Amino acid sequence: MTGTFDIATARQRFPALKEAQVYLDNAGGSQVLGDVIDSITEYYTKNNVQLGASYRVSQASTSKYGEGYKAAARYINASTDEIVLGASTTQLFVNLAGALKFNEGDEIIISKLDHETNIDPWLLMADRLKLKVKWWVSEKPELKLTPENLKPLLSPKVKFVACTHVSNILGTIHDVKAIANVVHEAGALFCVDGVSFAPHRQVDVKAFGVDFYAFSWYKVYAPHLAILYASTSAQEYIKPYAHYFNPTKTLEDKIGLAGSNYECSQSLPVVVSYLDGAFDAIGEHEEKLQKILLDFLNSRNDVIIYGSTSSDSTVRVPTISFTVDGTNSRKIVEEAEKISNFGFRWGHFYSKRLCDEVLGLGPEGVTRVSMVHYNTEEEIHSLVELLKKILP
Ligand SMILES: Cc1ncc(COP(=O)(O)O)c(C=O)c1O
Repeated sequence: MTGTFDIATARQRFPALKEAQVYLDNAGGSQVLGDVIDSITEYYTKNNVQLGASYRVSQASTSKYGEGYKAAARYINASTDEIVLGASTTQLFVNLAGALKFNEGDEIIISKLDHETNIDPWLLMADRLKLKVKWWVSEKPELKLTPENLKPLLSPKVKFVACTHVSNILGTIHDVKAIANVVHEAGALFCVDGVSFAPHRQVDVKAFGVDFYAFSWYKVYAPHLAILYASTSAQEYIKPYAHYFNPTKTLEDKIGLAGSNYECSQSLPVVVSYLDGAFDAIGEHEEKLQKILLDFLNSRNDVIIYGSTSSDSTVRVPTISFTVDGTNSRKIVEEAEKISNFGFRWGHFYSKRLCDEVLGLGPEGVTRVSMVHYNTEEEIHSLVELLKKILP
């Protein structure tokens, strides 16, 4: 239903948004759609049994769980055999890292602009399989991963490349399709962390041309659950964890271990239906939101914005991090909390290598304001007024 998504109505569908708190830490976790909450309550009330038995309720629960998988796969343009749902993106990458097969001496490339979730599992994998690790960096002020700055690291020895679609600090959108092309020309597999992209734009793993892609539903208006995609051809590199008597056909069979959270998995059709055709309107609205904050931050010469300073929605998402000369990020948040209901935060947000080694920041890291489509222009105008009061 392209074109019918209404931002103002959308906001009414989130019970939490009736509270006084202004939610600006959405890159940490979003609010949950009311219909998703109802769906989980109903599941617990009517369907809370073990799946796979022949009695009526178990048949209904099995079917609901299957519908969750189907909706999630359809949503990212994958087949159900190519996805697994799990506790978190970190957990799913760790599962994948323990199951991938490479040869001793093969090389992998990891980006320093990433959240530790898309770094540490691959370091563990390199340790287990005796692989050589190469680091991919883009320095200030560009801070953007591109085919051009990746190419010098690629060679026939490289078998795996991992990077983020959007950094949870920088907000800049990487052209993963263009990067996938050069990774594949070099004969390697490409793994993308889509956690900070998925709440803002449509995920389409086939259009992106990636081999592995993951994001966390709990940042996409749904409950605490994540999804990992692995293309059918990339699954040939996976050694399944499945019990010896169980099938190993699908990605869920291979690395899903004991099954995904039932009540959360079965709620996914609700959020998928909510987001159907929504992203044009979401991109347009988010551009307005980020412009308000970026115009203010750009107008001050004592502020450094990390990531793109453009408010163009094709360039960035509204996850905006900055530092201010003469004050630290923690103090800004503490002062804001004394006089307002605004919830945003300071720190490294687990992108610690980025903050320490690339941005050269101290322990307080950045101040991060992360908006999503249910935030209003009024909220961001008020945030700017608040910042005017508390910044030096
Ligand atoms: C960019 C990014 N990747 C990965 C993660 C980790 O996600 P999860 O908590 O599902 O493991 C986060 C969480 O904040 C994130 O922002």
